[in-house]
Amino acid sequence: LHAENEYTYERITEIKDFIKSKCDIDPKVGIICGTGLGSIGELITDAFILDYKNIPYFPISTVEGHKGRLILGYIKTVPVICMQGRFHYYEGYSLSKCVMPVRLMKLLGVTHLIASNAAGGLNQDFKIGDIMLQKDHVNVMGFSGNGPLVGLNDLRFGPRFFSMVNAYDVDLLESAKKIAEELGLKNIKEGVYTCVGGPTYETVAEVRALRSMGIDAAGMSTVHEVTTARHCGMRCFAFSLITNICPIDYSTAVESEIHSNDVIEVAMSKDKDLKLFVERIVQFIGKN
Ligand code: HPA
Repeated sequence: LHAENEYTYERITEIKDFIKSKCDIDPKVGIICGTGLGSIGELITDAFILDYKNIPYFPISTVEGHKGRLILGYIKTVPVICMQGRFHYYEGYSLSKCVMPVRLMKLLGVTHLIASNAAGGLNQDFKIGDIMLQKDHVNVMGFSGNGPLVGLNDLRFGPRFFSMVNAYDVDLLESAKKIAEELGLKNIKEGVYTCVGGPTYETVAEVRALRSMGIDAAGMSTVHEVTTARHCGMRCFAFSLITNICPIDYSTAVESEIHSNDVIEVAMSKDKDLKLFVERIVQFIGKN
């Protein structure tokens, strides 16, 4: 039998009550910042900041490029909660542990999730610095039965079985495209994301295999977060910042070898654009 999920409804309620006892903001939008994208948190006014290490039962962020704090506050009058730093499977956390904060957001009243990530471009037409709006995902880890919802189902979060069609909300995606256009962001793409377990980046054969499955970008997060958010009825929007192009040819693979510092650097260089972009999407959600 699978190990019990330590993050029961009651346990997450305890965490929710702890946060409520310190801060009376009722967030509507949940934001998860990807590697190097934590500055999105700087958009938040009247910020109430909690380090993960000071929240009961919270895991800690162990990787560079992730601050490890939860911020509640407002983006242009819309109440938000923001994770500056997420939890990854490759850190040794189970997928159900990685997604606990999404359920916490739900218990705090969040109705919309915005997830961001740094990802490698499998689609060879992509360029470094592109922003890929996620239209869909392929849950490759789920193919082997490794998913955040494996184990006993608690109906208070959502149903045992449910559809993942429309996992990425069409209205949000369409308005994000319009917003990007209005902002004059030129490097906007749309595509299919996947989460690989990591922490390794892909071999050439893996890049070819994933590409042949119709996947445009690979990262190490988001899929299980969106899965969990859909389970509990949130509307989701996600985007990938393409920090590198994955090598699909052996002849060029070695020159294009990727390093995690490059990932963080590219992500941080897009700071301004992405802050504006997220601000406008949050405003759009606030109005609807
Ligand atoms: N593969 C997987 N995850 C990533 C990559 C990649 O190439 N780049 C940034 N995150």
